[in-house]
Amino acid sequence: MIKIKDMKLFPMTADINSEGHLTIGDCDTIELVNKYGTPLYVIDEKAFKYKSNEYINSLKKRYQDFLVLYAAKAFACTSVFKIADQIGLGLDVVSGGELYFALKTNVNKKNIYFHGNNKSLEEIDLAISSDIGKIICDNFYELELVQNIAEKRNKNIDILIRLTPGIECHTHEYIKTGHLDSKFGFDLEDYDDVLNFIKTKGKNLLLKGIHAHIGSQIFELKPFADTIDILLEQFKYTKEKHKIELTEINIGGGIGISYTKEDDPITIDKWAEITTSTIKEKCKTLNLKLPKLICEPGRSLIGPSGITLYKAGSTKQVPNGRKFIAVDGGMADNPRPITYQAKYTAVLANKMNSSENMELVTIAGRYCETGDLLIKDILLPEIKAGDIIAVLNTGAYNYSMSSNYNMVPRPACVLVNEGTSEIIIERETYSDLIKSHKTPKRFM
Ligand code: LLP
Repeated sequence: MIKIKDMKLFPMTADINSEGHLTIGDCDTIELVNKYGTPLYVIDEKAFKYKSNEYINSLKKRYQDFLVLYAAKAFACTSVFKIADQIGLGLDVVSGGELYFALKTNVNKKNIYFHGNNKSLEEIDLAISSDIGKIICDNFYELELVQNIAEKRNKNIDILIRLTPGIECHTHEYIKTGHLDSKFGFDLEDYDDVLNFIKTKGKNLLLKGIHAHIGSQIFELKPFADTIDILLEQFKYTKEKHKIELTEINIGGGIGISYTKEDDPITIDKWAEITTSTIKEKCKTLNLKLPKLICEPGRSLIGPSGITLYKAGSTKQVPNGRKFIAVDGGMADNPRPITYQAKYTAVLANKMNSSENMELVTIAGRYCETGDLLIKDILLPEIKAGDIIAVLNTGAYNYSMSSNYNMVPRPACVLVNEGTSEIIIERETYSDLIKSHKTPKRFM
């Protein structure tokens, strides 16, 4: 029986055991800490599979032809790629590195889509020589590169065109991408030139569809519907003016998630309802065949599946001010608070049933930066050095955006499921950190 009163912010298998410890995937988080150390990223396998299947099933009951891609940038990890592939998700990759991981993991190559606003010649060549599914072309420079490489390799390449639909959505300035003043994608007014380029100079380019991604951590439905409307208008235009029939609509990333009690995201089912009904209605109005629907959620698949376990250390009480509790990680393993002022929630993993001496505290990181605060002003039971703090919903854009700031090795990551835990990313060591450094002989 689940003993956590409000599961909203916890991974789906979270529970509390008889010792009052937080458990995930039937693993005691305190035992995980004893075995693997802190900080520790923990991924709940069931939660990731559940969210993935929620996308698949809510589309399946409404729409025939679709593919859900896992946006690798949220958490690029070979084990997660493997699980995604087994469930039937494709992969959205944005670099040669993510592509290399995908290829090494032996995922279905035809379901790999390659994004990016400045892909290098080498990266495009790797994609083309590996026969991946599709390249999403972002700009004219890239169209030429893809055409040249495809011609040299004597291959025809399926491409999508990324458009900037001019949609404003309410999310952090740095993570919105669909507005006009964005570095990503072609402006709508250049679309005609794109089609002319493909027709006249792109003999190896097979245009299959259009892509747009309007931003991340979105809580509204309307921007998704508006994007679809705009993209399908272009389908109509492409067919009538250029006699090219597009067959794929890629509507970008998925829905936002809850990081705090106040967050109120839309559900995957509502999102599927609005996206599929908008496509059906619009295609009917414009007299278009229903295209294959592609979406690329990252955060909503892996975000809620992950937590980070930290050990509490030093404390500082500012006279008449804040009480800081420092943990053994911070902005290098979770750069989201300092980058986007992102808010998180935490619990005391070794004292889940305690409500004694509740205090308003600030969870500070260990890095040499005043802004390295993981959570400002959170009410928690009294924390002593050695207590384990679990920050929730850290599965997305934490490990993947981590750094070695202050030369701190990155934490390990474990996958938990039905009482077993397995390392999926090893903890870095000091020798990992120094191995790429070279000191010229003359300094020796
Ligand atoms: N597709 C494209 C083209 C994208 O650029 C992104 C995210 C996604 C899909 C996945 O979106 P999602 O379902 O995760 O919202 N580092 C930021 C988020 C940056 C998102 C970048 N693009 C953060 O930590 O909030």
